[in-house]
Amino acid sequence: MSFLAARLARARISASAAAAQRTRELRAAGHDIIGLSQGEPDFDTPEHVIEAAYKAMRAGQTRYTPVDGTPELKQAILAKFRSENGLDFKAENITAGAGGKQVLYNALMASLDPGDEVLIPAPSWVAYAYMTEFADGVPVWVATRAENGFKLSPEELEAAVTPRAKWLMLNSPSNPTGAVYSADELRALAVVLKRHPQIWIIADDIYEHIVFDGRPFATLVQVAPQLAERTLIVNGVSKTYAMTGWRLGFGAGPATLIRAMARIQAQSSLNPSSISQAAAVAALNGPQDFVSVRRAEFEARRNAILPSLGAFYIYVGCEGWLGRRTPQGQRLANDEDVTAYLLESGVAVPNGAGYGLSPYFRLSFATSMAALTEACKRIDAAGRALD
Ligand SMILES: Cc1ncc(COP(=O)(O)O)c(C=O)c1O
Repeated sequence: MSFLAARLARARISASAAAAQRTRELRAAGHDIIGLSQGEPDFDTPEHVIEAAYKAMRAGQTRYTPVDGTPELKQAILAKFRSENGLDFKAENITAGAGGKQVLYNALMASLDPGDEVLIPAPSWVAYAYMTEFADGVPVWVATRAENGFKLSPEELEAAVTPRAKWLMLNSPSNPTGAVYSADELRALAVVLKRHPQIWIIADDIYEHIVFDGRPFATLVQVAPQLAERTLIVNGVSKTYAMTGWRLGFGAGPATLIRAMARIQAQSSLNPSSISQAAAVAALNGPQDFVSVRRAEFEARRNAILPSLGAFYIYVGCEGWLGRRTPQGQRLANDEDVTAYLLESGVAVPNGAGYGLSPYFRLSFATSMAALTEACKRIDAAGRALD
């Protein structure tokens, strides 16, 4: 009998985490690798947020808090939804956890029974599928098309609905493709969702503020208020305020679900860090001008490499490389081979199989312009060196 639990087999490691690990190993061995795997801004947390955390510690905010967030944090989150999204929630609709990831985890753990299905547009952030499996659910990948900007169409959604589908994952702007759904596109999906009242929706808005070309951001409940009774919005301070390490995410949804999620969180971490909560209050209530300054910097980097739409990712097709030989004589059979070859060429990126759609790789431009330019040169040279 093994000491470790059978469930460990369902705790899988993502392609981007694997790529990051391999990068560390190769760098330690003296190789010059540009890492384009990371899903986090390379900016620092703003000074006023750090100051607020320091003050909170000094003022004794170093103790347990209510499980899913302090009243001050919930007020700040309510104000954010009101001013930025035109949505009026009550405190009972709000939850906070250690990152958007814990909020997602709580939701799936609180709602999935064995065999329940989660519809996941492919490609998507792989954690949706992994967490679904970990929570005893079944991920159902729903293919999207490059011609449609990797966005789920109403027809694709309708065809994917199954009797056991409990959730639909909607992530805009998207990791890994950068696709952004317009209000009209969300409205069209809402028409389908209204026909299937058993399906709840997770609107993962974590990249809300990383939208380019003056595009307005829209979230499902804004365009289809009737869906509020079965939608959980997931968001957080990680990407908008460059606070990935603080671990503070939040959600807004029906009170019954929110209460159930707090019960799940109470089984593990209890409240998110009291200090991170105070910092998040400062981030949400404080000046917002630097958010657009940073967005502009991301946009400039994006413009330097490719026209994509949002988030800091580009999903690059590599079909043209398949079947060809590297200078070392290896035939590239799939996107895993391609990313291994790119790594040898000095660029670390995760492959598309991990996101549910091959043959692609994901390129993150949350890195300096100089590193990005050099990485593009290396990718280009690697392509030219193929036979
Ligand atoms: C699509 C998506 N949703 C949610 C998250 C969670 O972010 P965090 O847990 O830092 O709030 C991430 C992080 O990479 C993400 O890519």
